[in-house]
Amino acid sequence: MAEAIKETVSNLIGRFSGSAEEAPREPSAEEFQQLQKKYDDAGQGHVFAFVNEIPTAEKTQLFHQLAKFDSTRINELAETALNPPKTEQAAAATLEPLPDSATASILDSDPADIKRWYDAGLKQVAENKVAVVLMAGGQGTRLGSSAPKGCFDIGLLSQKSLFQLQAERILKLQELALKAHGGQSATIPWYVMTSGPTRKPTEEYFAEKNYFGLDKSNVFVFEQGVLPCISNDGKIMLESKGKVAVAPDGNGGIYQALITCGAREDMRRRGIQHIHLYGVDNCLVKVADPVFIGFSAEKDVDIATKVVRKRNATESVGLIVQKNGKPDVVEYSEIDKETAEAKDPKQPDVLKFRAANIVNHYYSFRFFESIENFAHKLPHHVARKKIGCVNPENGEAVKPEKPNGIKLEQFVFDVFPITPLDKFASIEVRREEEFSPLKNARGTGEDDPDTSRDDIMKLGQRWIEAAGGIVITEADAFGVEVSPFISYGGENLEFLKGREIKAPAILEREE
Ligand code: UD1
Repeated sequence: MAEAIKETVSNLIGRFSGSAEEAPREPSAEEFQQLQKKYDDAGQGHVFAFVNEIPTAEKTQLFHQLAKFDSTRINELAETALNPPKTEQAAAATLEPLPDSATASILDSDPADIKRWYDAGLKQVAENKVAVVLMAGGQGTRLGSSAPKGCFDIGLLSQKSLFQLQAERILKLQELALKAHGGQSATIPWYVMTSGPTRKPTEEYFAEKNYFGLDKSNVFVFEQGVLPCISNDGKIMLESKGKVAVAPDGNGGIYQALITCGAREDMRRRGIQHIHLYGVDNCLVKVADPVFIGFSAEKDVDIATKVVRKRNATESVGLIVQKNGKPDVVEYSEIDKETAEAKDPKQPDVLKFRAANIVNHYYSFRFFESIENFAHKLPHHVARKKIGCVNPENGEAVKPEKPNGIKLEQFVFDVFPITPLDKFASIEVRREEEFSPLKNARGTGEDDPDTSRDDIMKLGQRWIEAAGGIVITEADAFGVEVSPFISYGGENLEFLKGREIKAPAILEREE
């Protein structure tokens, strides 16, 4: 039995992190012709325009790249994206904030409730029923770094990266769960979704850092899918003569990817019941937060989401709303000015729509069991981009000066509307404790590496002061970086009572 499990696990690891570089098999002439016919029939035959000019290895790669797509389906997606159905365009959606029945707030919750949720969530961790899914497939274009965002050094005294902070929080939580509930071991498996551009550097970074002290068999790096880029006239674009231009299929690609790479199967085998899913760029993320798990489990919802109050009408955050009576997100790129600026009739100095999406979601495993029913139905959002390509007429490279095509992306939150309101919950949390995303390049002053670092330092200082410690600050010298090895969320700092700490400081180990 143990041997069988070991074998399955190592197969899985192979599937999660291996195979990407195996040389593909050369197709037979017949296979090639069949595929070419499919694309010809779909009016996309130009993708084979240069097959007689490229080396066999490249031709083989092109074959395998194209074999993964369904040309008819691509045409459907392109058609809907470029010419959205008129009825949908015209239909005015009714937007309202979520009803009180589907919302809660840490800010005004009874401390007894919060403790009950925490205890229940930690028990789930101790019983090995909680998994964490990280979405780390984004390319950090706004940050201006080509490395995966998770590897980014935000300038902490410890020089820890975002990945490392998250891994150490998992380690700490496993320890807290074990301490509170005993047992052999408490394991929170970590499923890390990457994309074509971020996979290899992420894998290398994890290996180089020895998985940050986590057991390697509980860390799964996998890759999301891609979709071809489409020209403004609906044609699949070629990046080169032997390669289709592709882009990651958006963070909503997570659902299909969880099945394709075997992650959901792995969760099932482990008996996972609760999943925390989050985006890589939030340095304050409470990975597998027991309060969130306990809250969601008690409400017996399929999806829950954490929100913070939107900073102002122009902040680039999606809004959790009720759209046509269903839970939904209106993305910042898709909201109109009037809605963004609307005031709450009950509190005129507050925005009406203020529940900012922080990409911090809870799912029941029960919901993950239904992925097959919805993954292919999630809408594709259109991003108009300048896409480097070759002209299919003459093979010449094109460097566009204005958007010449579209990328198609699914959004992770597009499953909200398929969830009944009574199976959906949202909980407001404190921004200064839970949300500080890394979006922009250093020096921007907003959501950049400096604000990320400062927010961690300020949070540590507040924790220490709340525990009775004294932090000595001066103008720019503030904050304490509290290692996750000491405290996950401000607990266990009583030993600092009455002690003075000169900021900026770092607390790595209790001694
Ligand atoms: C996202 C949210 C927005 C929210 C904001 C908060 C979506 C679609 N939008 O916007 O509502 O208010 O964060 O910071 O969720 N990712 C992938 N694969 C992809 C694309 C993205 O894994 O193909 C990951 C990124 O690595 C990141 C997360 O998804 O962890 C969010 O993506 P990002 O592009 O940063 O989203 P925003 O536009 O900031």
